[in-house]
Amino acid sequence: MDSESYTVSLGNNNSEIRQKAESDFISFWDKQAKNLSWFSQWTKTLDWNPPFAKWFVGGTLNACYNALDIHQNTRAEKPAILWEGENGDSSVLTYKDLLDQVNKFSNALKSLGLKKGDRVTIYLPMVPELSISMLACARIGAIHTVVFSGFSSIALKDRIDDSKSKIVITADGGYRRGSVVKLKEIVDDAIKELDCVQNVIVFERTKIDITKNPKDKLWSELMKDSSTKCEPEHLESNHPLYILYTSGTTGKPKGVLHGTGGYLTHLYSTFKWAFDIKDSDIFFCTADIGWVTGHSYVVYAPLLHGATVVMYEGAPDYPDISRMWGIVQKYKVSIFYTTPTALRMFMKFGDAIPNSFNLSTLRLLGTVGEPINPEVWKWYFKTIGKEKCPIIDTWWQTETGGMMLSPLPGIETIPLKPGSATHPIPGTDLAVVDESGTEVPSNTKGYLVIRKPWPGMLLTLWGDDDKYKTVYWSKYENSYYSGDYAIKDEDGYFWILGRADDVLKVAGHRIGTAELESSIASHSDVAEAAVCGIPDEIKGEVIIAFVVLKQGIKKNEESLRKEIIKVVRNGVGPIATPEQIYFVSKLPKTRSGKIMRRLLKSIAKNDKIGDVSTLEDGAAVSEVQSAFDELKKSIKK
Ligand code: WTA
Repeated sequence: MDSESYTVSLGNNNSEIRQKAESDFISFWDKQAKNLSWFSQWTKTLDWNPPFAKWFVGGTLNACYNALDIHQNTRAEKPAILWEGENGDSSVLTYKDLLDQVNKFSNALKSLGLKKGDRVTIYLPMVPELSISMLACARIGAIHTVVFSGFSSIALKDRIDDSKSKIVITADGGYRRGSVVKLKEIVDDAIKELDCVQNVIVFERTKIDITKNPKDKLWSELMKDSSTKCEPEHLESNHPLYILYTSGTTGKPKGVLHGTGGYLTHLYSTFKWAFDIKDSDIFFCTADIGWVTGHSYVVYAPLLHGATVVMYEGAPDYPDISRMWGIVQKYKVSIFYTTPTALRMFMKFGDAIPNSFNLSTLRLLGTVGEPINPEVWKWYFKTIGKEKCPIIDTWWQTETGGMMLSPLPGIETIPLKPGSATHPIPGTDLAVVDESGTEVPSNTKGYLVIRKPWPGMLLTLWGDDDKYKTVYWSKYENSYYSGDYAIKDEDGYFWILGRADDVLKVAGHRIGTAELESSIASHSDVAEAAVCGIPDEIKGEVIIAFVVLKQGIKKNEESLRKEIIKVVRNGVGPIATPEQIYFVSKLPKTRSGKIMRRLLKSIAKNDKIGDVSTLEDGAAVSEVQSAFDELKKSIKK
């Protein structure tokens, strides 16, 4: 932990917000919810039936109405989306354009028989049609489930099947590093055996040839004669807005379910407090909408505020490492929000590249997704922000819906400490606790928990209330278990130390060990597999796989390695490609049969045996030691 601190004041001081939140968090959030436009008032602010929270019960609203309709009198001609394609294409959609497109598409969805509560899987690249699709679903009360377009057909299939989506929206292809990814082909493959899918809507992004199937509808044809008038549904505050699948350590990916009123209240407030959003701002978040950051802070939060968003289609370093700075300069970006992985990559190429661009329009810089190393924080602050932009390190999760820890220059000035996401947002209760749930003294490592319900919290896991309870609410009574290690220092600043469970964070992408291991084990020569992450200078973490082959397999290991990589790319997606694969004769397990991943991690990192004695799985040190020795002997890299 770094003792240096930096203070940048934006001149805002609203200390009342924290005071009010502390005195009564329920009436505090009740007041914040009034910033949204409701069709009818709620009767109860919070219905807390642990661990299920319902916010603003009985109130009705519509997310799309709050994102678009409310701006039509004041901002109809203001750009909502400034879109930049990877190949240099660009387009501008004003708030009026966006509403017209969304209404047309809402009517198109209705014409296909889609109804309130039905699910729609969206598998699109970063094009405005992705936002249009989400907002159209929200308008008619359908539940969207966006799948990151880098996921493979098997991963996509699992998600469509779990949500039982009636419609899949995709594109003929998407651009990635200059080549075309044939998304429609991946969808065709994914839905082959799925009866639930009635239609596939294909947006013609690249105009490549596609095989047309009976279920297919072209975006352009559906939109041609569709009306620009569509009344938004009046939805109860806890009506599900979306499902977003995220990875865990066991079983299949979990469908995190978010509601409407609470979620939007959380987004509206955090976006204002953390990013001090003004009508004149140009906001650029580099996240793909396929992940939660994109849902919350590319689509919903900025639109709620009538802000202008820059949306970029491709890879951040394509055609070269200066692409992001070129976009900041071209669109006069004032708020930039990215990941530590991207920053580490930019930093590696030195100061000359960003220094050759005009970045003077920037006034706030955000980061999210992984812990940021203090030296990267300082580089961001000095080289990109020229020491005049506060660094907004935001900690949160798919499950929390929005930011939970973050500096809030929109309401207060505090000294920033490089590497710390500072304090909880007002109206939330975060703590660092030990194994028994007792708060640990300052500067002591423990588990990060959330002790009171918050508006952005997930409603449940789609179709699995029991799993929701076990994953998040069984370790501690009445506290949400985040799965992260943290420290709270003597000044009350939180420092996130990374995952306490086996969830991997590779280049900021959340990847579950379970999905990865079952994908590797689907190779016909593999008996069993275990994966773990080890530190990487740029990506934060990379994946190492330990593989036990079936008896009698005599194949060349190099070709097996290639085959396994192919299986993973097809099973999960390229983001989950292991960096190294080790073949072993058996995996070390605890008496109850649990794989000792921490031990594997120590081996992969070449750590001393001493480190494994701190294992938390209860196995006796000597047992761990012999498993460790045996494994080391049996490894063939
Ligand atoms: C990690 C992304 C340190 C953390 C919004 C969390 C962070 C997981 C930070 C959630 C941060 C996110 N500092 N770690 N500022 N932000 N994380 O669901 O481990 O993709 O539990 O949501 O990312 O990842 P998810």
